[in-house]
Amino acid sequence: MFKINDNYLKLPGSYLFSMIGKKVNAYEAAHPDKRIIRLGIGDVTQPLVPAVISALHGAVDEMGDTATFRGYAPDLGYDFLRNTIADNDYKARGCDIGADEIFISDGAKCDSGNIQEIFSLDNRIAVCDPVYPVYVDTNVMAGRTGTYDPQREIWSNVIYMPCTEENNFTPDLPGETPDIIYLCFPNNPTGSAITKSRLQEWVDYANKVGAVIIYDAAYEAYISREDVPHSIYECQGARTCAIELRSFSKKAGFTGVRLGFTVIPRELKAGEVSLHSLWARRHGTKYNGAPYIVQRAGEAVYSPEGKAQLEQQIAYYMRNAAYIYQGLKEAGYTVSGGVDAPYIWLKAPNGMSSWEFFDYLLEKANVVGTPGSGFGPSGETYFRLTAFGSYENTVEAVDRIKAL
Ligand SMILES: Cc1ncc(COP(=O)(O)O)c(C=O)c1O
Repeated sequence: MFKINDNYLKLPGSYLFSMIGKKVNAYEAAHPDKRIIRLGIGDVTQPLVPAVISALHGAVDEMGDTATFRGYAPDLGYDFLRNTIADNDYKARGCDIGADEIFISDGAKCDSGNIQEIFSLDNRIAVCDPVYPVYVDTNVMAGRTGTYDPQREIWSNVIYMPCTEENNFTPDLPGETPDIIYLCFPNNPTGSAITKSRLQEWVDYANKVGAVIIYDAAYEAYISREDVPHSIYECQGARTCAIELRSFSKKAGFTGVRLGFTVIPRELKAGEVSLHSLWARRHGTKYNGAPYIVQRAGEAVYSPEGKAQLEQQIAYYMRNAAYIYQGLKEAGYTVSGGVDAPYIWLKAPNGMSSWEFFDYLLEKANVVGTPGSGFGPSGETYFRLTAFGSYENTVEAVDRIKAL
């Protein structure tokens, strides 16, 4: 008789987005005349830029010709893309990362979920609270997190690092020593960023205690401040303690196209064993490579036209972010984020819980956001709005909130 992986049964239901969906559907059914504006889910709305479309068309034509047709992609990625990334994302920023340390994938969600496979089950993980849920849930599936306390919404074997107003939504070094530290900056959901000197403290700490940092930089393209690093490899010593995850989803609107990569420096070792070779083995065994046409599209992101067009696209979203930030501030809300990230994190007013505020905004302003409690206990009383809507909808949503 077969048996299942019991760890899956420990996962609490994916309450957050299904609950939001249910509440919004019920409201819509009861009020068909109301126009609801959705600033909740973190998906992009602007189309792929012309440089990317043209690269896709070109690559599709190649696939239709015997002379240029490509079958399986190299499982670690085509050299043309790995070299382009190494030059533009790393060498240009003074980071010592070689093309052969870059593993192309279909996105950061898979990579952030899969990377834990190369570590022992008795490693202890540390995560920010609130946090992008994939890091914890995939460790639950693997059986690394202990037991769940539904009251406190925490796992017994996970070190939680609260990110609050007091620490500017960047975690303090943990009291207990973790083996694997997940950091995400610029951050989803809080929209906070980390300065290079703060991140250097984390790198020094990880090297001192022998921990590995899994650094999710999916929102790197939104950084505007000079002292905020685009890569953890801008910090001294990161080559011996850090893995970096990147995504084309928010950088170039590839949420439906699918492309990302993971960087593992060759010096990153557990004893004599290189994590680079473990991940290469894992990738080679379980992954057959991102599609050729998508990797050509990814290359176009770094062309002069691609860069210029994407700069405008990101400026478009960040104009929304500034409008939300400013408008809510004027309305008296306590607001953060929105400067180096497309997320605005606000405190629910008048002592409301994050779900109470969700209901209030839905009913009174017909605006949908995301309750902070869905990202962890420290998110209770907070609320996330995204800058990924259209400018017109964003302005209308903020104006409605201001008029309450
Ligand atoms: C922090 C973070 N990492 C990774 C991802 C997923 O990226 P991808 O679309 O490349 O899978 C997201 C998407 O919302 C995210 O917020």
